[in-house]
Amino acid sequence: MNVPPDEPFVAVRVWDLPTRFFHWSLALLVTANVVTGKFDSVLGASTLEWHKRFGIAILALLAFRLVWGIVGGTHARFATFLRGPRAVAAYAKSLASRGYAVSVGHNPMGGWSVVAMVAALGVQATTGLFLVQEDYGFTGPLSRFVSGAFSSRMGAIHEANFWVIAALVAMHLAAIVAHGVLWRENLVSAMVSGVKRLPARFAGTDGREGGWSGLIASLAVAAVVVSVLVKLG
Ligand code: HEM
Ligand code: HEM
Repeated sequence: MNVPPDEPFVAVRVWDLPTRFFHWSLALLVTANVVTGKFDSVLGASTLEWHKRFGIAILALLAFRLVWGIVGGTHARFATFLRGPRAVAAYAKSLASRGYAVSVGHNPMGGWSVVAMVAALGVQATTGLFLVQEDYGFTGPLSRFVSGAFSSRMGAIHEANFWVIAALVAMHLAAIVAHGVLWRENLVSAMVSGVKRLPARFAGTDGREGGWSGLIASLAVAAVVVSVLVKLG
């Protein structure tokens, strides 16, 4: 949808607090795990124990987000932002014409990039659970249930999938910069405050907040993930 540049803007509530908390915790923990995974030999033997703790926290966040994507606020729901191929193609076409394509929540391409990031991080953290690093006496919580060969195969995926994550995060950041430069949309402040500045025609389209029962259910699933993995060591 092309918007004339002189159309006035209004504030619209988009991202609920749990989604924002999920996002910034995830960004922080993923960064921490790239550093602890890549530089464990420089940072010391205990680094991998932190890598494991952060990885389990990431899995808990992902579990939280999967449930919150079903029961959360309007724009956190997968059903709101996962659009069919026609909507994605129309959005891509609007980008090619450098039109100002406004979405209240995730745009049709951004919605699928959320799925790609969540899936790639899920693969990374899950493969990590099977790993063994003999030099540091490190064992992943699920490594005792599998053969050495399976564990090595998971290690190869863990190493290679890092580059998939790196590419997805690079595209994520490039898209955010593009929205700022090309369309003067400050998506970062929206992910901080929960409020987007949108053309006046979007007045009154504020998302509904998620309810307490949904939040408790999402937190409960995350807590189960942590407690099972911590118990397994
Ligand atoms: C490792 C780093 C990061 C990861 C894995 C990541 C992942 C994600 C995910 C999964 C979402 C979807 C949120 C949801 O619906 O739950 C998202 C959205 C978003 N992220 Fe990140 N993110 C990272 C870093 C950043 C950074 C550094 C910034 C800002 C400078 C940022 C800004 C945003 C914004 C603005 C959105 C909302 C996009 C929109 O309006 O559709 N992210 N990110
Ligand atoms: C999403 C979460 C995770 C991310 C982003 C991540 C990232 C990484 C990265 C970038 C490396 C370095 C790979 C290389 O050598 O090129 C690595 C190595 C490793 N990771 Fe993860 N990881 C995650 C979760 C986990 C979990 C949950 C565990 C275990 C419970 C784990 C165990 C390991 C081990 C044992 C290594 C090998 C370190 C070495 O060879 O010295 N990771 N990880």
